[in-house]
Amino acid sequence: MLTYPPEPFRIKVIEPIRLIPRQARERVLREAGYNIFSLKAEDIFIDLLTDSGTGAMSHDQWAALMRGDESYAGARSFHRLKEAVEDIFGFRYFVPTHQGRAAENILSAVLVKPGMYVPSNMHFDTTDANIRARGGHPTNLVIDEAFDPANPHPFKGNMDLAKLKAFIESVGPERIPFGMITVTNNAGGGQPVSMANLKAVAETYHSYGIPFFIDAARYAENCYFIKLREPGYADKSTLEIAREMFSLADGMCMSAKKDAIVNIGGLLCMNDEKLFEKVKNELILREGFPTYGGLAGRDLDAMAVGLYEGLDEAYLAYRLSQTSYLAERLNELGIPTVQPPGGHAVYVDVFGVLPHIPQSEFPGQALTVELYREGGIRGCEIGSVMFARPDPDSGQMIYPKLELVRLAIPRRTYTQSHLDYVTETLAQIKERASEIRGYRFVYAPELLRHFTARFEPL
Ligand code: F0G
Repeated sequence: MLTYPPEPFRIKVIEPIRLIPRQARERVLREAGYNIFSLKAEDIFIDLLTDSGTGAMSHDQWAALMRGDESYAGARSFHRLKEAVEDIFGFRYFVPTHQGRAAENILSAVLVKPGMYVPSNMHFDTTDANIRARGGHPTNLVIDEAFDPANPHPFKGNMDLAKLKAFIESVGPERIPFGMITVTNNAGGGQPVSMANLKAVAETYHSYGIPFFIDAARYAENCYFIKLREPGYADKSTLEIAREMFSLADGMCMSAKKDAIVNIGGLLCMNDEKLFEKVKNELILREGFPTYGGLAGRDLDAMAVGLYEGLDEAYLAYRLSQTSYLAERLNELGIPTVQPPGGHAVYVDVFGVLPHIPQSEFPGQALTVELYREGGIRGCEIGSVMFARPDPDSGQMIYPKLELVRLAIPRRTYTQSHLDYVTETLAQIKERASEIRGYRFVYAPELLRHFTARFEPL
């Protein structure tokens, strides 16, 4: 029996990729200041920087693009999307947005006032930043198991209910305009949240009169994890699981660039009519008229089709086994990864590959550079470059607990042999690991420095 299902599609359109020679890779790395965000995409062989907007659309989605109705108001495309959104998510009201962070911005603009708090399991960076931009305090209350990379807990995205209750009591429910949960928990390794936890979180928020919003970027992957891992769900369809999940909430933000398998798009849904009025006004100001919300009509049509394709169980079985396949191959080679593998990405534990490089010399950055140097692969450092900060009192550097490199898998884009190539590249890096040196900054902006920093090898 096959352990890993083959791709449940065949390839009708291809985009050539090429591995430029090693000398050329060395040159472009130098020119980019050893920052993979500054590389040209054409110089990358396998791009695992993100799974966001980088998936392959299906022939049905491409056909849907041709039906795009570009009317400014009331387009047929909007109504087709509305039908899908109502069918799957069941909220009374919604607006399209150009991507997830636009939905977060509008929700925060309308509800967050300075000094307020928004709890979640873990906020994604843009959600965190949008709450802060309105003077609010995003707060992460995930279970402790989430911080132990070897712990195989099946729902490491769960929220800690005792922490949540204590938090609400300590700041007061009147200072919490809404509560959130992210499915799957991207910032914590793409880990799912169980239905039991979602129910308990919803009950807790509601018992204090706090509206509950889901960050639904990877909801379909989360629903399939529930089907696989949570007692009582094996015989339910992912669509039924999704409906149950969203029936618990008062609204949701979604980046459609993930589980709706489109290159651009987002959604903001809610049940509260008064909130919807405010959201529409804010949307008109920042994004566009409420029936297109910053997107072309054709984008709405592609999303309407993609929302169902993202829930398809043959696709999800293949999708989740891609990350477990890659993680298992790497683990066989003695390369540790966050356990269990997430839905959309494999997170390499850098301490297990480059133990000799101290965090002050950015081992995650060094591994990211080596992935490109060795194999033309682009991954993303999630470690000291992204998160190390000087302590405001002592000035001493505080380093993150984990030093990870995320290998995010775009949807329906790379095959199992591409993943084998990634494994072989990491095996080669591991063999000469002791020769690999760290890096130092030659330029680093104060905020979000990983995007534009420049480095020099030590
Ligand atoms: N929420 C989650 C959980 C996300 O992972 C992202 C994006 C967003 C919201 C924001 O959505 O990009 O459409 O504005 N994550 C991408 C990533 C960028 O690479 O993980 P967006």
